[in-house]
Amino acid sequence: MTERLEANDAGIARAADLLRAGGLVAFGTETVYGLGADATNDTAVARIFAAKERPRFNPLISHFPDAEAAFTEAMPNDLARRLAERFWPGPLTLVLPRQPGGTISDLAAAGLPSVAVRVPRGAVTAALLRATGRPVAAPSANLSGKVSPSDAYHVMRGLNGRIDAVLDSGPCQVGVESTVLDLTGTAPMLLRPGGVTIEALAEICGPISHPDDYADTLPVSPGRMESHYAPSLPVRLDAQEVGTDEALLAFGPELPGAGLVWNLSPSGTVDEAAARLFAGLRFLDSEGARRGLTRIAAMPIPRAGLGLAIRDRLRRAASPRPA
Ligand code: TXA
Ligand code: MG
Repeated sequence: MTERLEANDAGIARAADLLRAGGLVAFGTETVYGLGADATNDTAVARIFAAKERPRFNPLISHFPDAEAAFTEAMPNDLARRLAERFWPGPLTLVLPRQPGGTISDLAAAGLPSVAVRVPRGAVTAALLRATGRPVAAPSANLSGKVSPSDAYHVMRGLNGRIDAVLDSGPCQVGVESTVLDLTGTAPMLLRPGGVTIEALAEICGPISHPDDYADTLPVSPGRMESHYAPSLPVRLDAQEVGTDEALLAFGPELPGAGLVWNLSPSGTVDEAAARLFAGLRFLDSEGARRGLTRIAAMPIPRAGLGLAIRDRLRRAASPRPA
């Protein structure tokens, strides 16, 4: 049985107790719901991979209530401190060298000499992390390869009975995962576009290579273009027209003729589109399949601001599926 906990003092205290005891607790962040476990406890972290049916032990992001706590586990350089000052709490994950004597389990770090750390935004999330008093490892709270959850109901649809509790803090405001920036090399490297835009990062880091510059030229190999965020219906990108047998993921004025429509943002605003992306994919997938539609057709999304993160998630949703 999975407990649904209210986002009040009692719910937060219960969630923290479960985490400290090695349990699995999903919780809302400003990006998506995370599936949390005590990042210092190998057994608890292993349960994350089992609950998600994640085939490989990918490194996980550890979550902290503030930068000071994060930097007890990750060694900051000057740039990391400036980025933390500007963007934390918020949807930015920094990959940094592990602190000697750090407590994050090797399983959470996948045996790497680096760790990914993040300080999410939101009073409930901060209270939970503070009450837990340990780094909390948390990938998105969905079955591996499926669409990420942007509310507690989505979490329950995929993980009910597999996890101890979900702390329901309502729908996520940003709607796409955090931006992951690797600071272990000579120049900052963008590993995943997300909730902090590269335009905003560039104000502090200088120019960062644009993910769309290389995404289309990479070979489509399983490791590189892992099918992810995948609905059960196939996804077609950059649709210029749409058929009656297709479900349309619209952006701005809708193409006419679709069998079903979810408009990410009628006014063509990428922030609004990001917040509605995962709920829209879920809706078009379940309702489209029920109506016998054959595919999801996605209209083009601008290559700016949160549009980059949306394009990245859609590209993955459309990429070949593992057999
Ligand atoms: O918004 C988010 O980041 C959400 C919420 C729950 O906080 N979490 C999330 O976690 O998306 P996850 O585990 O799905 O994504 C982890 C990402 C992966 O792309 C992983 O490869 C990268 O972070 N990562 C983690 N540790 C790393 C490391 N040491 N070096 C390089 N990449 C790392
Ligand atoms: Mg995920």
